[in-house]
Amino acid sequence: MREFANLDEESAENIRKSGALSVDQADKMIENVIGVMETPLGIATNFTINGKDYLIPMAIEEPSVIAAASNAAKMARDKGGFSASATKPIMIGQIQLICDDPHGARTSILGARKKILELANEQNPTLVKLGGGARDLEVRIIETPSGKMVIVHLLVDCRDAMGANTVNTMCERVSPLIEQLTSGRVYLRIVSNLAVKRLARAKAVFSKEALGGEDAVDAIIQAYSFAAADPYRCATHNKGIMNGITAVALATGNDTRAIEAGAHSYASFSGRYKPLTTYEKNEDGDLVGTIELPIAAGLVGGATKVHPVAIANLKILGVKTASELAEVMASVGLAQNLAALRALATEGIQRGHMSLHAKNIAVMAGATGDMVDKIASALVREGRIRLDRAKELLEEEEK
Ligand code: MEV
Repeated sequence: MREFANLDEESAENIRKSGALSVDQADKMIENVIGVMETPLGIATNFTINGKDYLIPMAIEEPSVIAAASNAAKMARDKGGFSASATKPIMIGQIQLICDDPHGARTSILGARKKILELANEQNPTLVKLGGGARDLEVRIIETPSGKMVIVHLLVDCRDAMGANTVNTMCERVSPLIEQLTSGRVYLRIVSNLAVKRLARAKAVFSKEALGGEDAVDAIIQAYSFAAADPYRCATHNKGIMNGITAVALATGNDTRAIEAGAHSYASFSGRYKPLTTYEKNEDGDLVGTIELPIAAGLVGGATKVHPVAIANLKILGVKTASELAEVMASVGLAQNLAALRALATEGIQRGHMSLHAKNIAVMAGATGDMVDKIASALVREGRIRLDRAKELLEEEEK
């Protein structure tokens, strides 16, 4: 992996050793720090995205996720891997205005568009120099339990930043002008995580041979249709997608909650909660999978440039822009979902899952060293992956 990623010794060391994030560093990131909590970090393999090979760091506590993503990525390789794209990295900042004449206020605000954008951009000349900055305004009038409100959307191209800080600062900066223009009062000024103008998309074709035959293709489409029709299933379907995306977000020091909020709210954007992926059969009978969701991920700011392991992981990934990172995340989400649907629709998820889970159970029972694998194998062999049985086996071994 070091060779593939051309990784320097310091980064490799930061990944290898636990405790790379010192308590002192952590203390500068958040408040009331008492320590650091570690999460397993693995590498998903086999990903080709837009013709480029990637090794993808994923931080997650759940077994099977990385194996599943790597397996689906392998199946996609036959047909060229994933093709992915992203819109411009535009975030929405919301300004909540209460005033007597919402329609009049809307017209005044839109009339002062140029002045408002200029004022916002004065806030961040570096972003403007990099080709980003406040780009446009939208003004909505919404009905609420407290009456009509004017909601101003400031659209900001955040380039390689996730952008929440930039957007919030800009919104705060332009609010007095908005109050002046409308004689209204501004309340909230905050980024929206429903980042509909910062979408990432990916597509892959999975050959019927790679999936295990025509029946498997049909079964996966049935599984997708179930999620498309039923919110109870759809929540789990989308959760599986986020297993992959959140793990990459965490490994790269990104705001996992922002991405999760964006994904699930986007899934409901039509008024009905829907899958973030689609599946169809093409004329050859192969499975075509797509994904589309907002991904507000950054390469600068937040923990991305502070956490030593996140820094190393971004080097492994080798992405040049935040949009490329979003494309990788979307591809991982699609792979994750395909792997889950295939397993669920054919042999069921538990066999593969439980053999990895068995290792956790063995550790929980107190096994260490070689004993972990020994107990786990026995549990799988017996088909009884339970803590009480693991304890019994361990006692027998130790007699
Ligand atoms: C488990 O973390 C994720 C799955 O439940 C996703 C799915 O059901 O599609 C396997």
